[in-house]
Amino acid sequence: MEEIAFYDAKPYDMESFDKINDRYKINYYEDKLNRRTAKFAEGCSAVCAFVNDTLDRDVIDSLKDIGVKAVVMRCAGYNNIDLRYAAGKLAVMRVPCYSPYAVAEHAMALVLMLNRKIHKSYLRTRDFNFSLVNLTGFDLHGKTAGVIGTGKIGQAFIDICRGFGMHVIAYDPYPDKKAAAEKGYCYGDKEEVFSESDIVSLHCPLTRENRYIIGHESLKLMKKGALIINTSRGKLIDSDELLKALRDRRIGGAGLDVYEEEADFFFEDCSSDIITDDTLSLLVSMPNVIITSHQAYLTSEALKGIAETTLGNLDEFFSEGADITRAYTNSIILS
Ligand code: NAI
Repeated sequence: MEEIAFYDAKPYDMESFDKINDRYKINYYEDKLNRRTAKFAEGCSAVCAFVNDTLDRDVIDSLKDIGVKAVVMRCAGYNNIDLRYAAGKLAVMRVPCYSPYAVAEHAMALVLMLNRKIHKSYLRTRDFNFSLVNLTGFDLHGKTAGVIGTGKIGQAFIDICRGFGMHVIAYDPYPDKKAAAEKGYCYGDKEEVFSESDIVSLHCPLTRENRYIIGHESLKLMKKGALIINTSRGKLIDSDELLKALRDRRIGGAGLDVYEEEADFFFEDCSSDIITDDTLSLLVSMPNVIITSHQAYLTSEALKGIAETTLGNLDEFFSEGADITRAYTNSIILS
């Protein structure tokens, strides 16, 4: 039986994998994969990793040296892997699609909570404070949502926005003109999306080109009071610039499921720690910022889909002779 080292394991991961796994010996580790923990995979032929695991040159070399042949990412994004370096050393696969609805619905939950200040009213009424002062929001109907990235999640988010009677303007280097015509949204350049939208929601992968796509310049273009939603990757937003725009009251609020320095905090209980990241502390302290801990994907349907596809990726790899030079259905190695 092939052994798999499973890093950054949480109870809900183990439950979803154990429910359907009858063919691999999975060794679960709470630790994240990094230079120190790579050796845990000794004796394993594959490693299962997640969004905040480190797969840099040193880790890739360590894994290869101890006989690991494949990395199966149990997520869609792969910005944390040095893919060029991994080519020819390890097979790397991912889960390109599990539930775009899970992430899109969470993005809209952040919009609704921020706009209608549900987080504040929840706390108030628990203390029998039934005042409505400072809880005024705005109608979504008739407003404009700006969507950056119109792949699977972006499309699901557009459907939700259209259902609310919103106009949608989108930016994507590869626009889906057919979907735009069918669903009644339009494409524009980035500047148009930033300047015309009441809500800007990010649904693109993190690449070298779009790091800090929300930064000093784009924030200056945005409508006063606009809401920013990020359920994609933290480094798409320059957090210090966002903080300045929030403090200057230029931006109306931010719903963040990801944060550029999330690896040290997200997914963990840090409630007894002194948080040394001042930017994160200031963001958390703001009344118009809602932070969730990379939770957007977390539905039972998505967890099931992730486990099925990840085990399927391993099945394909091992049934094809564990050939690291081959392309598999969900390979992400660059040639
Ligand atoms: P997808 O691959 O279906 O779509 C991504 C779209 O972004 C594509 O249409 C692509 O052309 C576009 N794109 C690429 N570079 C761009 C740029 N610079 N500006 C604008 N658009 C650009 O991916 P999917 O499934 O929709 O996922 C999107 C992202 O959501 C993932 O890359 C991942 O970072 C994030 N994600 C977050 C989760 C969470 O729990 N918070 C869970 C799953 C995904």
